[in-house]
Amino acid sequence: MTDPLTEKKFDKKLITIERHIQEQQKLYPSATGKFTEMLQDMALSAKLIARETTRAGLANILGAVDASNPTGDRQQKLDVFADEVIFRMNDHTGRVCAMVSEEHEELIDIPPHYDTGNYVLIYDPLDGSSNIDVNVSIGTIFSIHRKFTRGERGTLEDVLQEGRRLLAAGYVIYGSSTMMVYTTGRGVFGFTLDPAIGEFILSHPNIRIPDTPKYYSVNQGNEKFWTAGVRRYVKWLQGIEGEGHEPLGHRYIGSMVSDFHRNLLKGGVFLYPGTMQDPKKPYGKIRLLYEAQALAFIAEQAGGYASDGIGDILNVRPHSLHQRTPIFVGNRDLVERAEKYIREYDKDWVQAFLPYRNAEMQHKPASSK
Ligand code: AHG
Ligand code: MN
Ligand code: MN
Repeated sequence: MTDPLTEKKFDKKLITIERHIQEQQKLYPSATGKFTEMLQDMALSAKLIARETTRAGLANILGAVDASNPTGDRQQKLDVFADEVIFRMNDHTGRVCAMVSEEHEELIDIPPHYDTGNYVLIYDPLDGSSNIDVNVSIGTIFSIHRKFTRGERGTLEDVLQEGRRLLAAGYVIYGSSTMMVYTTGRGVFGFTLDPAIGEFILSHPNIRIPDTPKYYSVNQGNEKFWTAGVRRYVKWLQGIEGEGHEPLGHRYIGSMVSDFHRNLLKGGVFLYPGTMQDPKKPYGKIRLLYEAQALAFIAEQAGGYASDGIGDILNVRPHSLHQRTPIFVGNRDLVERAEKYIREYDKDWVQAFLPYRNAEMQHKPASSK
């Protein structure tokens, strides 16, 4: 007698992330394989970080160390660990010409005794780190550019490229299970870690954001500081302002990766708007390089859209490593609606934000909290 459970199990193809990345590589005839190996290294980094996040309490590595990251956040030990893992995984491979991390003020050079390659790695080692010690999902965000300057080592110019030019982007969620989601510009694929065998298995092929959105995600506690357009927009999401559609549900975790991931699978919008609370800092909180560009690329690949309230985040030319950007990301129609409200009601804010958005490239971080 056949066991229906077993039959069902073997009915489906088991695709590991390594196999998937290799098969994707075949779609790019000029690929050398180095890029493929880099993505595989990210998956391995994710497993190492997941091992630590899942036993964070046991290993007694909770709590803040006595250091701040360049943007002024309290840096926690797992941030440092995750940052180190990703750096060490990539410093000696000969594939990478430079790295930048949310946890480092400047460009991270490849040590002089190692070879360099054609790729720039950009990463937020742990996103949502304020959630570490309360056992709420956190994540890693990464993206990869191709080096275009001529020298052997990567330069700031190689890092500060438009998101539109990204070769790949992805994120990992350390949640009820560990997942890695990535794109190389041909769709978005999600993999779930089977801890028993230590492999990421394809669980979400070709993710598309659903047409009918379910959720909006914003730190509603900041409402006091919002501009008129953002206020009206959120009222519209709630079905109060405008034509009065069914309200969207409100969900906010405070880990962008997790909020983004839920909305990608269920439909909706995540926003972290700019405000006029301090007109000299009209740009909100999210970092353009480490967070916004990667998620914007993934959103677009899944049929969604990301805007800074003015236009497409993927078309913004970064001017500094720790540049911040307002973000509205999710279903295209929801995001375009935000742009419309901002155009109509937030002219002062647009005036204040545009010079920052269009500033020339600089070497020092432009902002701190
Ligand atoms: P990080 O932990 O890498 O500094 O990022 C935290 C970010 C983002 O993940 C999240 O959406 C946002 O901060 C939450 O900010 P608020 O606590 O202001 O809502
Ligand atoms: Mn982050
Ligand atoms: Mn972080």
